[in-house]
Amino acid sequence: MVNLEKIDVFFSLNSFTEIELREKTSVVIDVLRASSSIVTALMNGADAIIPVADMGEASKIAMNVDSENYLLCGEKDGVMIDGYDLGNSPFEYTKEVVANKKLIFNTTNGTKAIKKTFGSSNVCVAAFLNVSAVVEFLKTQDTDIVLVCAGWKGRLAFEDILLAGNIIYKLSDGKLPEKARDGVRVAFTLYDTYKDNIAAIIHQSNHAERLKTLIGTDDIEYCCQTDITDVLPYLNEGMITLKNG
Ligand code: MLT
Repeated sequence: MVNLEKIDVFFSLNSFTEIELREKTSVVIDVLRASSSIVTALMNGADAIIPVADMGEASKIAMNVDSENYLLCGEKDGVMIDGYDLGNSPFEYTKEVVANKKLIFNTTNGTKAIKKTFGSSNVCVAAFLNVSAVVEFLKTQDTDIVLVCAGWKGRLAFEDILLAGNIIYKLSDGKLPEKARDGVRVAFTLYDTYKDNIAAIIHQSNHAERLKTLIGTDDIEYCCQTDITDVLPYLNEGMITLKNG
């Protein structure tokens, strides 16, 4: 049974220390686009995703594995990295490309946030694409829950907080818990304000603006879809796989 008064929200990967996640269930949120690409990759049959903190770690792993079964994936500042197999557009993570592959995944904020949650009791990854699956999983947890928004380079990202609010809204049946923490109040209120206009408001966010100048709007539209899948990406010994998959 979730204790709604004990849920917390961290607004960027720099706004907490690892110790604050111990013995908790962490939910990592990077709507644009790392979470959405991870969900899509698993939905399309990727075997596992190995989140890394930086290019050095990614190269070290890539050098020691069989390149037929592994793909080097990710971006820096939204742009695909030279020499990588894939960037960070969810449209690249098709069945044909990712089925049965392990993906070494390196992104500007999302994978760094995931790495910071490694000391948690449970870690899952949330996007709008799988929000109901995440909520159903959280309902089964006895530990305290922390919603970790990746943000952008230490700052908050509107779309991540909006999804945190959506998760809280669903867990609380739309009623803000009386003694909710401040972070929960902010996320809940943001979602409650914009819940009928999710895609339109996300299009106005700072990272959406950044992506529009780099690659247009297709990725943003894709990442704003709700519940296209029930996959639950779950961290297990340093790799993200399907929960019970
Ligand atoms: C990140 O990790 O910051 C993002 O996923 C950036 C992106 O849109 O590629």
